[in-house]
Amino acid sequence: MDVTALLAKLYQQLPAENTGEVATYIPELAKVDPTKFGVHAVTCDQRAYAYGDSEECFSIQSIAKMFTLTMAYQREGNQLWERVDVEPSGTPFNSLVQLEADKGIPRNPMNNSGALVVCDILLNYLAEPKKDLLAFVHSLTGDETINFNERVAASERETSARNRALIEFIRSFGNINNDTERLLDFYCTLCSLEMNCRQLAESFLFLANQGISPCTGKRIVSSTMTKRLNAIMQLCGLYDEAGEFAFRVGLPGKSGVGGGIVALHPGDYCVAVWSPPLNPKGNSFYGMAYLEAFTSEVGESIY
Ligand code: DON
Repeated sequence: MDVTALLAKLYQQLPAENTGEVATYIPELAKVDPTKFGVHAVTCDQRAYAYGDSEECFSIQSIAKMFTLTMAYQREGNQLWERVDVEPSGTPFNSLVQLEADKGIPRNPMNNSGALVVCDILLNYLAEPKKDLLAFVHSLTGDETINFNERVAASERETSARNRALIEFIRSFGNINNDTERLLDFYCTLCSLEMNCRQLAESFLFLANQGISPCTGKRIVSSTMTKRLNAIMQLCGLYDEAGEFAFRVGLPGKSGVGGGIVALHPGDYCVAVWSPPLNPKGNSFYGMAYLEAFTSEVGESIY
């Protein structure tokens, strides 16, 4: 199969009208060009295929929650699940509604509530949290050009009322320990990570390869941990659209409001797609359509 030609063909076949809208609740994100589109696919044996703006960096936003989750899981092991659950929420990424009934234990680490608890846990382990996080991200591929975008982080810090509310509400149940501003700063910096589609696909490749990065040959997590991280992505990675994503795409995946979606086929490949306009559930409109066509065409989903 000529995968490079396929990637171009699938782009041509996207719905002519993109009904999505670029995220505006973080002012810096509203500035992005909505016509951008990129895709990069890489196999576990490192064959790579790309199309469009695949080398252009964008804000990966919530996709980065998988990096902090992996770091926390490395340190806490299965004790981690005492502070954050692994159930799909069926609610939007920034929802507060389930926390009251769930006594401050977030449903999963992909929703903001769970990601904030994971960041809170990491603050207790890391001497220099932002530096250590960046070093971890670099260690996944050996690419040390990946960085945060300070303007995006600042823009999000200024519009953080909801995340601040989540922190204080969870704190009232005793499940957040660190200072609110310190925690928010770490979380907003995490969300400001920038990558291009190639860097994103390569960074997630260890999850398609039983926990070993094919780029460096180094083990990141055990194969059992890899299974669990992929299960969390599958069930929770697209929030209240996780079912639709499994139904249409059939791969574990993670989205961000920057318009990126990364998805992987265990033992086989990882694919990252970027198109900024989002559907009403906050996931890339073209990204979803493209990945659905991709797995249908290559005939390889996990189902
Ligand atoms: O917490 C926020 O609002 C953002 N920084 C992250 C949101 C996000 O990417 C949700 N995913 N689709």
